[in-house]
Amino acid sequence: MSPAEALKPQTIPTMYFVGVTTGKSSIMKVFPKWSEILGLGAQIVGYDAPLHAPNDVYLAIVRHIKNDPLSLGGLVTTHKIDLLNATRSEFDYLDPFARLCGEISSISKRDGKLRGHAKDPVASGLAWQAFVPKGHWGRTGAHVLCLGAGGAAVAISVFVAGLPDRADRPRKFIAVDRSPERLEHLKAIRQQLDTDIEFEYVLNEDPQRNDDLMAALPPGSMVINATGMGKDRPGSPVTDNAIWPQDGLVWELNYRGELDFMQQARRCAESRNLTIEDGWVYFLHGWTQVIAEVFDIQLTPELFAKLDEAAADLRPT
Ligand SMILES: NC(=O)c1ccc[n+]([C@@H]2O[C@H](COP(=O)([O-])OP(=O)(O)OC[C@H]3O[C@@H](n4cnc5c(N)ncnc54)[C@H](OP(=O)(O)O)[C@@H]3O)[C@@H](O)[C@H]2O)c1
Repeated sequence: MSPAEALKPQTIPTMYFVGVTTGKSSIMKVFPKWSEILGLGAQIVGYDAPLHAPNDVYLAIVRHIKNDPLSLGGLVTTHKIDLLNATRSEFDYLDPFARLCGEISSISKRDGKLRGHAKDPVASGLAWQAFVPKGHWGRTGAHVLCLGAGGAAVAISVFVAGLPDRADRPRKFIAVDRSPERLEHLKAIRQQLDTDIEFEYVLNEDPQRNDDLMAALPPGSMVINATGMGKDRPGSPVTDNAIWPQDGLVWELNYRGELDFMQQARRCAESRNLTIEDGWVYFLHGWTQVIAEVFDIQLTPELFAKLDEAAADLRPT
């Protein structure tokens, strides 16, 4: 659907998906099922914009949602920072994570007010808690090596910094990125957090150096692929010779694509006793958090489990 078509006044309750190639996402098949389960009678409409689109493109969708009665809100991916920068004055409310991270992933309306939320710290946190054992970091003294320091890395670091129990917080969070700006942004956010986690920032895009960083991790450490390599761009941030942390946790943030990083980890899963997680649960939490906000739904663990089950058949293999 062209952006102009997407901006027509809607005749049924509508949630927008603001992205780059929205038609390819699993949500286009999952949402109708969820709408039925939740009794929403709603549709999802994609709004594709090129990377770093002009401000007018962002203003058009945000003003449309604001003014069209049946356009109830939207989920924003990829454009989270640019969209907020272009449309900040349109919003009546931004949640604390949106203000801290300077981005929004959720647009919703309540009592005539336009609201923006950054849901990624919550969604990535729920996904983290689904596979990281309670007290893991207290037992192991292990570290997190996060390859890529973009939006997802920021969200995960904000989440871990806010965990109340010391035993649930990693001792150290090492962020690697090829962009000094991304590392500076993460550093600036970290400075606003009251946290005892030691942060280290590494400017690098050489897979061999990432191998070295990985080899130096204590047992039980987590390695995250937050670069988009293996989906958004080819390859992996580590080499085939990488030595994975013994009893380590491996988190590939994507669930579709070549997923080279996850395949490399799988080949060593037995010998290094690795727990490997992909991005599917993160995807489910990201969407259900925003849908709950847009349609004003109380999202209980039971309801999440039902939506998770309904989406399982539609998961790309
Ligand atoms: N499952 C889910 O629901 C979910 C949720 C959030 C994110 N994700 C996935 O996670 C990935 C990261 O998301 P994001 O929002 O954080 O993306 P992002 O903001 O673009 O961050 C990725 C960062 O990694 C850097 N990078 C790329 N290749 C690198 C390399 N070889 N070495 C060092 N740094 C490198 C990028 O630099 P450049 O900008 O220079 O390329 C960028 O700063 C994406 O593929 C996204 O689809 C999945």
